Amino acid sequence: NTGAFTYDPGFTSTASCESKITFIDGDQGVLLHRGYPIDQLAEQSNFMELSYLLLNGELPSKAELEKFSGTITRHTMVHEQLAQFYRGFRRDAHPMAVMCGVVGALSAFYHDSTDIADPHQRLVASHRLIAKIPTIAAMAYKYSVGQPFVYPKNNLSYTGNFLNMTFSVPAEEYEIDPVVEAAMDKIFILHADHEQNASTSTVRLAGSSGANPFACIAAGIACLWGPAHGGANEAALNMLREIGHIDRIPEYIARAKNKDDPFRLMGFGHRVYKNYDPRAKVLGKAATEVLAKLGKNDPILDVARKLEEIALTDPYFVEKKLYPNVDFYSGVILSAIGFPTTMFTVLFALARTVGWVAQWNEMIADPEQKIGRPRQLYTGHTQRDYVPLTQR
Ligand code: SDX
Repeated sequence: NTGAFTYDPGFTSTASCESKITFIDGDQGVLLHRGYPIDQLAEQSNFMELSYLLLNGELPSKAELEKFSGTITRHTMVHEQLAQFYRGFRRDAHPMAVMCGVVGALSAFYHDSTDIADPHQRLVASHRLIAKIPTIAAMAYKYSVGQPFVYPKNNLSYTGNFLNMTFSVPAEEYEIDPVVEAAMDKIFILHADHEQNASTSTVRLAGSSGANPFACIAAGIACLWGPAHGGANEAALNMLREIGHIDRIPEYIARAKNKDDPFRLMGFGHRVYKNYDPRAKVLGKAATEVLAKLGKNDPILDVARKLEEIALTDPYFVEKKLYPNVDFYSGVILSAIGFPTTMFTVLFALARTVGWVAQWNEMIADPEQKIGRPRQLYTGHTQRDYVPLTQR
């Protein structure tokens, strides 16, 4: 709904953003993408099909999906000079720092898709961003581990291509395990879009000035990195590893309840959900399934399960309506696939790029769209006269 408020200077602002893309009911724990429930999409769709849905508003026909996937596939390579940007970073740079820099640098490479008044150029920029973000993310990982970059292969699926670029090495082909590919694709689906969260609002605000779309996505990546937002998936797994054993959970529950302790249960709580995050439900189930199929028995999953069980019965968390969110279980699966924790938020950014792009397009295509201009409630000094230094 649009909210309107008027205060002192007679200024009227509409604190609103109308969108047709994603609906969330935080009290009921409902998440719909263009009307389709997230659990149905996660179990029955795939990331390319969801990307088409978010961008176009309807599920594609077989022919439409093949055309869309083919277009994305043909944009997966990056300009060879873009690879030079990685070499400016130390090898131990956080991959999210690399993503901010390299995606921002894309704004200097594609002048034929940045006239945002031209719908065709907007579409080309959108396809380029969705197509190249996995390549850039995989290159960030390769650079961090000192391995050579791996080029995309057009005969692989979007998600399979990303896994191959990430884990394949010249000495040994990476065999794409269908279980891993399906789990990765499901994780991408669950992270694709989430209404007007902080990073999406960042992309919209940056884009509202007419800024270069590649630069706007870089701004979204910067915002997502924060531990209160997308950075929570890395922080949550680090927290679970620090807890290490179910016997130590009460100590961390007590810390999370202590107002004098800045510690928060990472992967718990949400600005909107005051019920179980529907994405966390899917991920919690997937974590058990994927680890079993991969034959992996990670004690961290037991810690996560027990922590959730204790927190959901603790009066503090019940009263504050704190539930697991999308970041609570995702790291268990990503770790089982082989990603280091420093790549977790990069994977979130990879998936959320399609949501940022869809939201950016929706905003720019609106003929009524104006530059964003949040206002403030001024609580500082009333007007006063300058005091010369000699009198202070
Ligand atoms: C994402 O917006 C989106 O849609 C985001 C996202 C997306 O898809 O884009 O869903 C992705 O960012 C998920 C959230 C990931 N972040 C974390 O898991 C970090 C840990 N969570 C907290 O930092 C916190 O829950 C926030 C930042 C997510 C929300 O903080 P708020 O706005 O303070 O939450 P709230 O108003 O519901 O808090 C109510 C109370 C507060 O205490 P009081 O002021 O009432 O005394 O609960 C406390 C909070 O301090 N609280 C927690 C807590 N989260 C909230 N206490 C302990 N542990 C926590 N995790």
